[in-house]
Amino acid sequence: MSQRRILVTSALPYANGHIHIGHLVEYLQTDIWVRFQKLRGHRCIYICADDTHGTAIMIRARQEGTSEEDLIARMQKAHVDDFAGFDIQFDNYGSTNSPENRAICEEIWASIRKAGLVSEEKVEQLFDTEVGTFLADRFVKGTCPKCKAPNQYGDSCDKCGAHYSPVDLIDPKSTLSDTTPEIRTADHLFINIERLHEFLNEWTRSGGHLQPEVANYLAGHFLHEPLRDWDVSRPAPYFGFEIPDSPGNYWYVWFDAPIGYIGSTKQWCNRQGEDFDAWWRSDQTEIHHFIGKDITYFHTLFWPAMLKTAGFNLPTKVHIHGFLTVGGEKMSKTKGTFVRASTYLEHLNPAYLRYYYASKLTARVDDLDLNLDEFVTKINSDLVGKVVNLASRAAKFVEKSGLAKVYPDDGGLFQQAAEDGQAIAECYEKCDFNQAMRRIMAAADRANQYVDQVQPWVLRKDPDKAAELQDVCTVILNLFRQIAVYLAPVLPRLAEQTAELLGKPIAQWDEAQSPLVGTPVARFKHMLTRVEPAQVEAMVAASVESDLPSGPAATYNDGPGPLEAEPLTETCSFDDFLKVDLRVARIVEAVAVPKANKLVQLTLSLGGDKRLNVFAGIKEAYQPEDLVGRLVVCVANLAPRKMKFGTSEGMVVASGPGGKDVFLLSPDSGAQPGQRVH
Ligand code: 2FM
Ligand code: ZN
Repeated sequence: MSQRRILVTSALPYANGHIHIGHLVEYLQTDIWVRFQKLRGHRCIYICADDTHGTAIMIRARQEGTSEEDLIARMQKAHVDDFAGFDIQFDNYGSTNSPENRAICEEIWASIRKAGLVSEEKVEQLFDTEVGTFLADRFVKGTCPKCKAPNQYGDSCDKCGAHYSPVDLIDPKSTLSDTTPEIRTADHLFINIERLHEFLNEWTRSGGHLQPEVANYLAGHFLHEPLRDWDVSRPAPYFGFEIPDSPGNYWYVWFDAPIGYIGSTKQWCNRQGEDFDAWWRSDQTEIHHFIGKDITYFHTLFWPAMLKTAGFNLPTKVHIHGFLTVGGEKMSKTKGTFVRASTYLEHLNPAYLRYYYASKLTARVDDLDLNLDEFVTKINSDLVGKVVNLASRAAKFVEKSGLAKVYPDDGGLFQQAAEDGQAIAECYEKCDFNQAMRRIMAAADRANQYVDQVQPWVLRKDPDKAAELQDVCTVILNLFRQIAVYLAPVLPRLAEQTAELLGKPIAQWDEAQSPLVGTPVARFKHMLTRVEPAQVEAMVAASVESDLPSGPAATYNDGPGPLEAEPLTETCSFDDFLKVDLRVARIVEAVAVPKANKLVQLTLSLGGDKRLNVFAGIKEAYQPEDLVGRLVVCVANLAPRKMKFGTSEGMVVASGPGGKDVFLLSPDSGAQPGQRVH
């Protein structure tokens, strides 16, 4: 097998937030893949950095009364500690705010200019006059111009999925000062990506650079029409690199972020005395990026276009994964499932999460669900019950004698697992860690059946069976060691403990091909404890955060108008309140009533087969097609009312004076149709 040269990256985490278990899906996936490549004897480096530029960092530094440089230095330390805590081992962990990165940005920019791809255009952007900054999309909230859902971000609507420009939001407010921003015009620099359309068609569809579903997505969503120019500059004030030939303008964070992969490699090369061109300008080197599905188009369209123009290596493969859900839902701060890496480490062993994620990761873009009950069961039954138990049940019986001098007859078990090494390696190579773990656990099952059959604890009672005891323990420890080799990319600490126990480092995949014989066995030290549900509960409890907004962005100046227009009614008793049966319902059908100005006919589902037919006066405020699928609150026990168009069997709950200003109430995510609202 010839030695490959492989450069691997994970997405650079933003310097304005802490690492959480969602991020860890990617860093663990990448770390496992890199460790696997190293174990196979390839030259492989793992490069990463903090993504430090942009409005968010600038604002946060201001809010904290510190400089951006101090803020990013502090966050870098926190990130590095979190990664180390999970045994994620980078060859270089840099920063996009480095001189190396600036120099490469300038070089790539010069190539893009030289290729004649840059143009200047005027752009309207919202400007917060109180804070004195242009507002990135995420710093503006307002009413969706399409479905009228309030409180939506400046780029897209959570409720109806519409994409728009922040200047189209109805009643926009800056989230920084809660003031109404004004529209200002500034000159921006654009890259004409369309000129690389043919190249991108070819690159995305051939050569196996992308998972098939990703190539199809790009073809259907972007490459089927001319590519829009990419806006790569931002006017001051902005925290980033000033564009040398455009004073007062800065590269947009997404321009210099991926270049950070190269900048960080450059730092590593300088430190190690390595030839930089051999890593980024050589067809002998493979480049593998691991990223999440949300940043697909940056890495599969803009990034290859930049690399191609500047003559750097193109990615050999972009490996794209889905999002993490916990218990089938989005991570939630209020439910305590938005768990920071550091909080996890205060309660649980990193090996548990490394193994759990490995057992769930496939080569596809699917989301990965962390089910906390399954997490406990899997760790206890697989890692403790099947793997570590092998060593703990055999090692103590051969502490004095060591391993037998000749490998005994084991009925072909070692050979079978050795032969499986090739298939397991193929699974790792193609990022199908789930299949790799299944095969490894199948080997562990066979080894455990052997233990149950030979019963070393019975043999040890009979002094005449000492040689037999040594033989069976030699087999068990060798089967255990094979598993530890195969699991080494996932569980590096277990590999070290195994090396200590059996006196031989696990440095290569091929260690699983031939058994150890005649070597001493060290005193058995405990390797991995069972995970207790109480530990997981404590971690979740420690992660619960109130969802009340805090900090300077949370200033409220709601006017008195609505309450004055409709003062509070007289007090009602609790029993009176309970007479109204409010339920969560899902709108499963919505049709505008043709001859009525205001009415939409809704079919509400209360779960199962239970349906209510309801006429709601919301036609001016909502498009029926935007309503289908959403959850609402309805009065489910209202006496049926005969209307011109049919019978209305309930009422959906909404606020507002009527007409265009009607606002349906929605429960938080997690609510189920049929649940009572009290
Ligand atoms: O989405 C993110 O978290 C970005 N910070 C990823 C950047 S990846 C690369 F392009 F730098
Ligand atoms: Zn909307």
